[in-house]
Amino acid sequence: MTGHGSDSSNTTEEALKLIRRSLKSNSMDRVEGAHFDGSYPHVFITFGASGDLAKKKIYPTLWWLFRDNLLPTGTIFYGYARSKLTTAELRAKCDPYMQVKSGEQARYEEFWRLNYYFAGGYDSRRDFELLNQEIKKFENVPHANRLFYLALPPSVFDSVTELIKATCMGEKGWNRVIIEKPFGKDADSSKKLSDHLGKLFSEEQLYRIDHYLGKEMVQNLMTIRFGNKIFSPTWNRENIAAVMITFKEPFGTGGRGGYFDEFGIIRDVMQNHLLQILSLVAMEKPASCHPDDIRNEKVKVLKSIDNIKLEDTVLGQYVADPNGEGEAKMGYRDDPTVPAGSTTPTYALAVLRINNERWDGVPFILRCGKALNERKAEVRIQYHDVPGDIFEGKPKRNELVIRVQPGEALYVKMMTKSPGITFDMEETELDLTYGCRYKEVKLPDAYERLILDVFCGSQMHFVRSDELEEAWRIFTPLLHEIESKQVPPIPYVYGSRGPKEANEKCTENNFKYYGSYKWKPKQP
Ligand code: NDP
Ligand code: BG6
Repeated sequence: MTGHGSDSSNTTEEALKLIRRSLKSNSMDRVEGAHFDGSYPHVFITFGASGDLAKKKIYPTLWWLFRDNLLPTGTIFYGYARSKLTTAELRAKCDPYMQVKSGEQARYEEFWRLNYYFAGGYDSRRDFELLNQEIKKFENVPHANRLFYLALPPSVFDSVTELIKATCMGEKGWNRVIIEKPFGKDADSSKKLSDHLGKLFSEEQLYRIDHYLGKEMVQNLMTIRFGNKIFSPTWNRENIAAVMITFKEPFGTGGRGGYFDEFGIIRDVMQNHLLQILSLVAMEKPASCHPDDIRNEKVKVLKSIDNIKLEDTVLGQYVADPNGEGEAKMGYRDDPTVPAGSTTPTYALAVLRINNERWDGVPFILRCGKALNERKAEVRIQYHDVPGDIFEGKPKRNELVIRVQPGEALYVKMMTKSPGITFDMEETELDLTYGCRYKEVKLPDAYERLILDVFCGSQMHFVRSDELEEAWRIFTPLLHEIESKQVPPIPYVYGSRGPKEANEKCTENNFKYYGSYKWKPKQP
């Protein structure tokens, strides 16, 4: 696992040194030194370079990695898209997202000097051949590796991957293909895509991104669970009443509802990000930290999850807030890009059940939604009531909360005697707030870690095809039922906590909310 600060003395610079050292032990270092003769041994090719993801995520990430000297010496960057752009025009599109600080300008110029752009069609063999010829000019060395990033809509996935395979595979080193979701729309379309990719590339060449696997606290789940004696004996049905995994965003689809409407919140967030978190929370201890040992355990726990039933869900769709401002004045269906009368959910709660010895009877409640009251992603492990109570029902349930964002934190809500001359009790917390404990550490963005992992050849934080198959197996019958029956989502007001029926579903599933806990933030 790259990029982990293990204590407060572990500064950003030390963390960077560690990453560099791990890069050095990797095979790509065999080509170091190639830059001395002016040629470049790693080519990073972004397909869809003119698009939103590229300018907002991929180019900024490449720049940050380059700025921090984390990329192998002599990496160059190729952008490929249909738009006829110059590199300067591409740069102008990316500039607002690059966060260049004072003093970094010279380095930034250096980054763009290593960038090239090639305009071509996504189904034109000739254009791909020309791209290959361009890239080859930089590979006048014994070893050269290529990374292909597909920041593209699914409609061109097939042709682009076929053309990469037919015309652009480097012959002097490894080729790795990074793919963004959506990986299909249901079990059948996902299988079709997997079969298609499987014919072209080996599993070792494929890196399916779920960017939540690049987040600090998601990567921390392994350490929290298996690096501490204190949690493992209680991590089971005997002690845990319910697990809740939440994703909330305080904004709606903002004029991009046309794209969202095809997928809905279940495919957009729940089937991938939340289910990935669930599998890390619920899996058994892997035999080692080898990516395949971990992924084997993730698949195993997914196999124990029943398909979700409609009655175990709550679906919602946001409507305008009559007193709101800006985007809040617009409900989902008021977005002109959303088809009239759309029943696509923008909020979903689903209760999943894991049929194994550890988790039988423990509801895993997944909740996600857009246009809610706050931005938040967290895992909440709620323990059972204390048995044989001697405190007249006063103790509230313990909760272990792993806050993924914003403001990474891990806290345990617990009871304590109220301090002073009293025998009363109150709720308090054991609190590991990253902003306080790790002041010096700059946490890398999820994409930084993941792209670096691809350079290093580590597939630990990427989704394997059998994980994907299980994820779609769990959700496909539900998605088909929702769509065929046009199940009407419950309206909720923009900026609210979502439909009240979701609270009721949580209560029905043994999750207790007391409303009494008060947290006093410490100064970071
Ligand atoms: P709470 O007991 O306030 O909330 C617990 C859960 O109840 C949350 O999942 C919340 O989720 C849900 N909830 C809130 N309102 C209702 C409602 N009316 N009906 C049913 N469920 C409800 O405890 P928290 O753990 O959320 O802590 C309170 C605040 O303190 C949070 O902002 C938390 O981040 C902060 N805190 C931060 C720490 C840190 O950064 N280190 C440490 C401790 C606390 P939802 O609204 O999403 O449904
Ligand atoms: C993406 C979803 O996968 O994750 C978006 O498609 C969502 O709808 C985004 O906004 C959230 O990512 P993050 O890192 O901002 O929590």
